Amino acid sequence: MSVPIRLEPDVLLGLLAGSTSRYEKRLSELAGLYRDDQAFRSALESDNGHPVYWVEASTPDEEAGALTIGVSVLLPGRIGDEFAMTRGHIHAQHSAAELYYGLSGRGVMLMETIDGRTSAIEITPGVAVHVPGHWIHRSINVGDEPFTTLFCYPTDAGQDYGIIGDAGGMAQLVVASESPAGWELRDNPDHQGYEDHDR
Ligand SMILES: [Fe+2]
Repeated sequence: MSVPIRLEPDVLLGLLAGSTSRYEKRLSELAGLYRDDQAFRSALESDNGHPVYWVEASTPDEEAGALTIGVSVLLPGRIGDEFAMTRGHIHAQHSAAELYYGLSGRGVMLMETIDGRTSAIEITPGVAVHVPGHWIHRSINVGDEPFTTLFCYPTDAGQDYGIIGDAGGMAQLVVASESPAGWELRDNPDHQGYEDHDR
């Protein structure tokens, strides 16, 4: 049994006071995430090696019913038509849901089911998104400042990061557009379908 914990996001610095873990991703670790290989390689050439997204989280214990609460920061950027994004995952325990709450910037939670449904919900400060169980999810920064969210999921949910790569990417891409929102969904021609994939 753990003790109650006070957590305080520092939105300006992208930190979570009271967190117990930190996870970082650099551009060099994201090969294959973006469709435009040439744009990715040229971005790598001018990359400074700093993290492009990171997560600070509090996981006080692992017992059933425990929560992991954290802050996720995704820096703005573009690789070809696509906006900066996280790798995305489905929870290893597929039925586990997750809450995301916008703290800064402007992003999209792109969500897809194995049987082909899609949902894309824009998150700005003060907006919460309930990602139900069974939905693959990824954050995308469609703005020009860091996209910061507070999240909460059951600690035993686990993450399966392979499902997206094995399917040739998510079914939808979030790409720059002339629309008022500045982004739109486009079918990913490389997507093979999640259900055909032999897991
Ligand atoms: Fe998740």
